[in-house]
Amino acid sequence: MEIQKVGVVGCGLMGSGIAQVSAQAGFPTVVREVTAELLEKGLGSIRKFLQGGVEKGKMSAGDMEKTVANLKGTTRLEDLADCDLVVEAVSESLALKREVLGTLDRAGKREAIFASNTSSLSITEMSTFTQRADRFLGLHFFNPVPLMKLVEVVRTLSTSDSTYKAASEWCRAIGKTVVTTGDTPGFVVNRLLVPYMLDAIRVYEQGLASRDDIDSAMKLGCGYPMGPLFLTDYVGLDTTFSIAEIMFNEFKEPRFAPPTLLKRMVLAGRHGRKTGRGFYDWSTNPPS
Ligand code: 3HC
Repeated sequence: MEIQKVGVVGCGLMGSGIAQVSAQAGFPTVVREVTAELLEKGLGSIRKFLQGGVEKGKMSAGDMEKTVANLKGTTRLEDLADCDLVVEAVSESLALKREVLGTLDRAGKREAIFASNTSSLSITEMSTFTQRADRFLGLHFFNPVPLMKLVEVVRTLSTSDSTYKAASEWCRAIGKTVVTTGDTPGFVVNRLLVPYMLDAIRVYEQGLASRDDIDSAMKLGCGYPMGPLFLTDYVGLDTTFSIAEIMFNEFKEPRFAPPTLLKRMVLAGRHGRKTGRGFYDWSTNPPS
């Protein structure tokens, strides 16, 4: 099965990035958002990133035009019916994913491959919302999608070899490196990364070191591009909390349990960069 046309459901942080890299690699790509306003916001962020690339000399104006021409926005799921690959990147709610995947399954081509960009929900469970468990897998991208080189390709017990091969080839065609993983919460990266971020919050909560010293310690001591508290703001405290809860429920290990401070900050609406406040104040540039 050759992937020629791509659909992306959701044009938020991850969906817009996935649609962008797909269109940038030359694939006609249709991206769907629920309202015209949200769609315009997502497409606007893609244009802004591409424009930044042109200004930095990373991309020619002609390539930007080609990318934009490959991208089509819609609010109708049915407009993804003729896609060979559909990547779902809607909010992390199983009920919502069930609705979206069920509709797409009925509308879409029989041979089309469906993928979820979920970071921690079960790919196997999602595949049961469709009649195509053999053509279903996880394609987990990283934030910011256009800059992060990795995609975790998640195989369930039912994913066919041809589905795995075609989806992996598409990931390589859009310039990503693939790692293959089984279907357990967090896959490889979040299984290792999330306990680290939670531990950093516990260290901060216990007063062992200041926010800036924790972040400097890991940046300068380990060569990480961002400190763990900055990274948590970047990923989103709400997202981190929900991944931690899913992993804790599955593994029942204390290292996955969300710290009290994280829960309180989420309840207070301090979700990090996206809400303007987390461990850092994002209304200033750079965040303070
Ligand atoms: N177009 C093209 N290229 C661009 C660009 C644009 N608009 N904007 C930036 N770039 C290029 C830059 O030119 C630079 O390239 P170079 O290395 O060849 O010079 C490169 O991208 C890095 O950009 P910047 O120099 O502007 O930015 P930084 O060096 O500060 O890096 C970062 C930014 C890549 C985000 C880096 O800080 C980083 O890697 N942070 C860690 C992010 C991370 O860990 N993400 C994973 C989170 S976990 C996750 O997503 C999983 C989920 O399930 C929770």
